[in-house]
Amino acid sequence: MQLTDFLNASPTAFHAVENVRKALEGAGAVPLSEKDAWEIQAGRTYYVIRNGSALTAFHIPESPKGFRVYAAHTDSPSFKLKENPETAEGPYVRLNVEGYGGMLMSTWFDRPLSVAGRVIVKEDGELRQKLVLIDRDLLILPSLAIHMNREANSGYSYNVQKDMLPLLGCAASKGQLLKQAAESAGVREEDVLDYDLFLYVREPARVLGGAGELIAAPHLDDLECVSAGLEGFLSASFGGYISVLAFFDNEEVGSRTRQGAESTFLSDVMRRLKECLGCSEERYQRMIADSFLLSADNGHALHPNHPEKCDPVNRPVLNGGLLLKYAASQRYTTDGYAGAFVKELCRRAGVPFQVFVNRSDLPGGSTLGSHAVIQVPFPTADIGLAILAMHSCYETGGVWDYETLVKTAAAFFDEQ
Ligand code: CO
Repeated sequence: MQLTDFLNASPTAFHAVENVRKALEGAGAVPLSEKDAWEIQAGRTYYVIRNGSALTAFHIPESPKGFRVYAAHTDSPSFKLKENPETAEGPYVRLNVEGYGGMLMSTWFDRPLSVAGRVIVKEDGELRQKLVLIDRDLLILPSLAIHMNREANSGYSYNVQKDMLPLLGCAASKGQLLKQAAESAGVREEDVLDYDLFLYVREPARVLGGAGELIAAPHLDDLECVSAGLEGFLSASFGGYISVLAFFDNEEVGSRTRQGAESTFLSDVMRRLKECLGCSEERYQRMIADSFLLSADNGHALHPNHPEKCDPVNRPVLNGGLLLKYAASQRYTTDGYAGAFVKELCRRAGVPFQVFVNRSDLPGGSTLGSHAVIQVPFPTADIGLAILAMHSCYETGGVWDYETLVKTAAAFFDEQ
């Protein structure tokens, strides 16, 4: 699946995982359930999904030396529908939402929106999820006219409860939201027991720029890195290590959930592999000591209108190659050893790299690596691709960067 197709088909973490699952199945990977007993054979690829929104896939060689784990996150900032999603005060029907993650709120106004996620129904005595993707222009979040707020262009403080409830329509729209969500999931509305539904923007990914070198899309952070890791994994010939894709949910809200990077999901899978492979604890510890984690998440490119926000020396640009991220605070985990490992990896993969560090007077963001290492004590590097407008609902990246991450991931998994 091409990056743009993957982005367009993945409006939520649940869809991203489903699309990764389909691609893995297409390549012959074997599904495992955390509830069932596992039988594992060397030379094959397996995957396991937790809660529908996180996925771990692995390929095991004969006599593995250790692990090569590529992590990324499946979620993006959005707005989540609350229970009883419609509010119908007055003549309009709006959706009652709360914020998910740290989004740039202004970007959500005056563009067609819709709803996606999952509903939970009871089927054969079990609670099952059904994906929801209401595939039509459904909602809009209208700005307040300039005449009613003359200060609108001088900055505005958004209040989610007041400003961010999208308009479903007039009185005729009452009751439509859950009805259409159930329809989209192929279930009866009365069978929906609960749901996780999010707003998504209808604008698809687009390639632009004078030479077609820019991509603008929802969810580049971090589905660009999910897609590149997946492509790298699928094109790898695999070397002497257990190759692992670890796609976590909930990075945008701190990773501390049962399917987040700070959960035991990855370490649980590793421990089960140890059992299945009949590995002694001593041998397992030696494997852990010979392992590496690449935490792949997008970072900031030099902004064309705000170059002053960038470090004065390390100034990554769109289409400048793989991004290697450092922070003394260790919010980015890369240290000298891990940085050297990645630089060697880039040399092997034949791709250029560039460095991101925050300006020393800006705290910057954080990412997966520092959460994941709590459970898996590997040397870790934070890498990614440079983008603009991070956490806008429509972000901008470099078309030619994508391939550098695909090649880096493949070279990582191919290590002998
Ligand atoms: Co991210």
